[in-house]
Amino acid sequence: MTQILDGKALAKTIQAQLTAKVHDWTPQVGRPPGLAVIMVGDNPASAAYVRNKERACDRVGIASFGQKLPGDTPQAYLEGLIAELNADERVDGILLQLPVPQHINDVTLLNTIDPNKDADGLHPVNLGRLVRGEPGLRSCTPLGVMQLLHANGIDIAGKQAVVIGRSILVGKPMALMLLEANATVTVAHSRTHNLSALTRSADIVVSAIGRSHFLTADHIQAGAIVVDVGINRIETSAGQYRLVGDVDYEAVSPIASAITPVPGGVGPMTVTMLLHNTVLSYCQRMPALAHERGTLLS
Ligand SMILES: NC(=O)c1ccc[n+]([C@@H]2O[C@H](COP(=O)([O-])OP(=O)(O)OC[C@H]3O[C@@H](n4cnc5c(N)ncnc54)[C@H](OP(=O)(O)O)[C@@H]3O)[C@@H](O)[C@H]2O)c1
Repeated sequence: MTQILDGKALAKTIQAQLTAKVHDWTPQVGRPPGLAVIMVGDNPASAAYVRNKERACDRVGIASFGQKLPGDTPQAYLEGLIAELNADERVDGILLQLPVPQHINDVTLLNTIDPNKDADGLHPVNLGRLVRGEPGLRSCTPLGVMQLLHANGIDIAGKQAVVIGRSILVGKPMALMLLEANATVTVAHSRTHNLSALTRSADIVVSAIGRSHFLTADHIQAGAIVVDVGINRIETSAGQYRLVGDVDYEAVSPIASAITPVPGGVGPMTVTMLLHNTVLSYCQRMPALAHERGTLLS
């Protein structure tokens, strides 16, 4: 029987735990945790993601300090806004919704965020902490994958893992987190030769490419654990749209020992880890919660 790695259910459980903590901690601190999501422009997919994040914050009791700005907002204004949010005591997490319009230098903006409020875990200081194996705010999507593997009792130490994709958002931090958990890790990308031979030798395959039905039964060995990070919008024969991952789920799920569905796998865990990072940062910044710091995931 293939184990379905149900991110939706685990996200619900973790969000309920976070809600209870926020409920207990808010009176002790005198304010709830706060998350500021900065969105520039009107990309419809980004707007949907931001709405989703704000609703999730609301459910858990995190205050939102969202800023939706026009597409022609100057770089200097955004840098000033981030400096204000860095100094704002009510704000524990800051997230820049990507992508930003072309005239904006997103790397400079990400580097302007206070590393201790870096809810997305993408600041070089937090990526450096990950490389060094030190505690810090971890990148949400790979952290969500790790939680999904741990919560389902999947042993990672000593396993051969192949991560497909080397982005700073997913692939690279994913590889480092698997390495931190003592997997033997290979990172594949668009220039990798003979990818299917590589993935067929893997116990764990994580795909973060962004191409629908890319991974087929030929890529996977019997009993492998398959994590599908990809989110692709495809048109159905009825002219409607639906979301699929990188993995041909129908073909691969009978071979795998465990697999994440899309939707309902990694996606809900990403949002939940954003909430987790905001609460973790709140807990670390507030002296009244010093004794609670070990009760969160990292
Ligand atoms: N579920 C979630 O919560 C979540 C969160 C974030 C992202 N995503 C999804 O995850 C996917 C990847 O996101 P991303 O931001 O990492 O994308 P990205 O920056 O476009 O990176 C894609 C990676 O895939 C590699 N790649 C492309 N074609 C390939 C091929 N034919 N064979 C092997 N590798 C190939 C690229 O290699 P090169 O480096 O050589 O170009 C690159 O490293 C997207 O579908 C995105 O929507 C999902």
